[in-house]
Amino acid sequence: MNVIIAENYEDGARKAADLIEKIVRDNPACTLGLATGSSPVGMYQELARRCKEEGLDFSHVHSVNLDEYVGLEGTHDQSYRYFMNTNLFDHINIDKANTYVAKGVGDVEANLKEFNEVLDQTDIDIQVLGVGPDGHLGFNEPGDTLYDGAHEETLEDSTIEANKRFFASKEDVPTHALTMGMGNIMRAKRLLMIISGNKQEAATKLLMEDKIDPHCPCTFMRMHRDATVVIEKKLAQEIGYIH
Ligand code: GLP
Repeated sequence: MNVIIAENYEDGARKAADLIEKIVRDNPACTLGLATGSSPVGMYQELARRCKEEGLDFSHVHSVNLDEYVGLEGTHDQSYRYFMNTNLFDHINIDKANTYVAKGVGDVEANLKEFNEVLDQTDIDIQVLGVGPDGHLGFNEPGDTLYDGAHEETLEDSTIEANKRFFASKEDVPTHALTMGMGNIMRAKRLLMIISGNKQEAATKLLMEDKIDPHCPCTFMRMHRDATVVIEKKLAQEIGYIH
């Protein structure tokens, strides 16, 4: 695993954007696997700036997102479709018809079938990842076994707690989500994880231990042959990765 230490959040956003920019410039028709959460927001802002000011061209880029809440319309301001539109797609010259976020409403089985079909037809050049405090990737929650393909997850209480800051109350946080499976994530050609915030436990298991642990899904990243982790210096020091 390639570990990049960032001075702070903004520096991490720039360093992560450098990796995405290289992929887009090398292959303007690449497919980006994208993620939501506060960790990649700075990178998305930086990519939007480079699109506007430096001609970084997304017009032939395709994208597919990691996950979506069950029960939220794409127009709901906490849906991940809305997040992607407002944090990235509305600010770059991507064709929204080339972007895919799983449907959160309607028939769950049909939505999952469509999500799996899209993933089966897609070769992801780089998958962006954040990480949950419990080590979840997308919404692959810790457990004795993990899933290969896209599936529905019941969210852990700790995940609902962590994400309630975006909703009016904890009761408003959806209890279920559709997510790429671990197999979908691991089949991406490259992985790019941005670790930011209170992620000491997940970061310790990922960077300081040698175990692949389904109870901490992010540890599976260690098995990928082209994985990069961008971590803020302060957090890297807190977990003893650097001094
Ligand atoms: C949600 C998303 C994850 C994301 C996580 C962490 O649970 N489904 O993909 O990694 O939040 O979010 P943040 O970056 O805001 O800490």
